[in-house]
Amino acid sequence: MTDPRRTALITGASAGIGATFARHLAAHGHDVLLVARRADRLEELAAELRRTHGVRCEVFAADLTDPATPAAIIDHAARAEMPVDVLVNNAGLSSSTKFSQTPWESVAAELQLMVTATTELAHRVIPGMKQRRWGRIVNLSSLAAMAPPGEGLLYTGIKAYVLQMSQSLDMELKPHGIHVTALCPGFTHSEFHDVMGAREAADRLPGLLWQEPQDVVREGYEAVMAGKPVCIPGKVNKLTAATIRPLPQRLQYVLGRNLNPFK
Ligand SMILES: NC(=O)c1ccc[n+]([C@@H]2O[C@H](COP(=O)([O-])OP(=O)(O)OC[C@H]3O[C@@H](n4cnc5c(N)ncnc54)[C@H](OP(=O)(O)O)[C@@H]3O)[C@@H](O)[C@H]2O)c1
Repeated sequence: MTDPRRTALITGASAGIGATFARHLAAHGHDVLLVARRADRLEELAAELRRTHGVRCEVFAADLTDPATPAAIIDHAARAEMPVDVLVNNAGLSSSTKFSQTPWESVAAELQLMVTATTELAHRVIPGMKQRRWGRIVNLSSLAAMAPPGEGLLYTGIKAYVLQMSQSLDMELKPHGIHVTALCPGFTHSEFHDVMGAREAADRLPGLLWQEPQDVVREGYEAVMAGKPVCIPGKVNKLTAATIRPLPQRLQYVLGRNLNPFK
């Protein structure tokens, strides 16, 4: 018996890990709904996926820092008769300025994008998944959620929230046939460090710390399908997490203050 056709909603699908997720899910026969701000990039990717994989692709260009966007995306999916079976909460960024030097509007936008919109999208797709007794949710956390806190960065706290929230949801929803995975990549080649304004510092880091988005996505996809609540892709990242996590908080604080490559 072949699997029923599923629809995947991917946020931040115009670049990096999100675009790679869209390609991977389409290659596995999923129809896709692509979300990000850059409509031209999304249209280009949608045309490629239709041509290459023959799947249905819908584009919804929107800014996820607008509190109205998550509801608008789900309304669009309902009107298009594309009930969301797979949600990849991927859109994100990190500002490089310290917390106290960042205007409140930018801090609020980061929280809206990576905390509130991520949580709201999950909340809005879960009832349908429960009804169909099948669902898969991947929330992009980061190795940063397990690493020492970065000085003045909101990002580590945000990704720690995503990690904890994903595990709590997975516990609640497993009995309903819904798997939730926090995907925790380390340094991954994408536009992330360009947007952060940290390209030069990133390029100075040793090559063995870096992964390609294809490898991150393959491991993340396998993890959520297999029902693993946390996925740390790559051997080096797994070793880093296993080394750092047991360290006392005080030592982690000192490491965080002295080892931040983007200071
Ligand atoms: N790269 C890394 O080293 C790394 C490591 C750990 C975790 N992560 C996480 O992985 C996720 C994907 O990052 P990436 O590395 O693929 O970065 P990327 O190449 O910069 O892609 C980020 C995506 O998010 C979208 N986005 C940003 N702000 C948005 C907004 N306000 N509204 C809608 N979409 C928005 C961007 O699209 P538009 O600009 O077109 O809106 C883009 O598609 C993020 O959550 C990031 O925190 C990345």
